[in-house]
Amino acid sequence: MLWRTRGLSRLLPSPSRRVAPVQLFTYAERPDLAARTGEIEDSFPEFVGYGDVLLRHWGKLRIELPELQLVLWDDERDAVVGHARTLPAREAEGLPGGIDDMLERWFDGPRAEPDVLSAMVAVVDRRRQGEGLSTLLLEGMRGLAATSGFGSLIAPVRPTWKERYPLIPLERYAHWTRDDGLPFDPWLRVHARLGAELLVVCPASMRVEAARDAWESWTEMSFPEDGEYVVPGGLVPVRFVGGRGTYVEPNVWMRHRVPAAAEQSY
Ligand SMILES: CC(C)(COP(=O)(O)OP(=O)(O)OC[C@H]1O[C@@H](n2cnc3c(N)ncnc32)[C@H](O)[C@@H]1OP(=O)(O)O)[C@@H](O)C(=O)NCCC(=O)NCCS
Repeated sequence: MLWRTRGLSRLLPSPSRRVAPVQLFTYAERPDLAARTGEIEDSFPEFVGYGDVLLRHWGKLRIELPELQLVLWDDERDAVVGHARTLPAREAEGLPGGIDDMLERWFDGPRAEPDVLSAMVAVVDRRRQGEGLSTLLLEGMRGLAATSGFGSLIAPVRPTWKERYPLIPLERYAHWTRDDGLPFDPWLRVHARLGAELLVVCPASMRVEAARDAWESWTEMSFPEDGEYVVPGGLVPVRFVGGRGTYVEPNVWMRHRVPAAAEQSY
């Protein structure tokens, strides 16, 4: 069954707030652009794409829920410049465990009645970062939450500068602020500027476990003996035991409250 949203265009950034000529579409609206998201140069470390749960379920988002996936399109340059993914989730009994947990609950079931929309990822092409495009993605995801009849968009946020401080607990890092009171981390800051509140850290949002040679190829490092290693792009160290490396990524739950969309029919 397709997840239906109504009247998305009313809640997407208005043309005056849009970074012209970049526009936002759902994958359902523009499957031709959705098929081109592979052209985006992302800045994730390679290993984050190899979690067992992610490998099993990630591809289903675009196929089963195209109305809840977004693509950013630069008409002038004929370029797909970003994308954002969302998934309905349930928080009444407590926040989900993170990315893996939400994917498993939705796709492996039993599927509980969703009561919130969760962001799963937001990506801006590395060549277009720093232009404020991520705000369009966040506003678009908030719009999807509203048109789906949810009161909030929650997000397990991956703070972009945490990789510079892999030994500092995320519980502390997430609360670092600048002199102006805004979060130290640039990506947490974008959320905060839009009015999102910081909730708690989800300590095990996404897990990647693999043999030493896979880690060596992903990171271009050697891991001669078991132990903890700081790796490029890792928010926390990778732990090797018996020649297998495990990375358990923590994220920060943030909540964007969204105005209820009028004329909901759910
Ligand atoms: C996180 C991400 C989506 C932000 O997108 P963006 O469009 O570049 O964000 P913005 O342009 O709104 O910039 C946000 C802040 O980061 C800073 N910034 C972003 N890219 C930058 C760059 N390449 N150089 C310098 N500063 C940069 C901006 O100056 C801004 O800081 P400010 O609050 O001081 O103004 C993007 O960096 C990205 O795709 N990262 C890789 C994927 C990822 O980690 N996604 C988030 C996890 S879900």
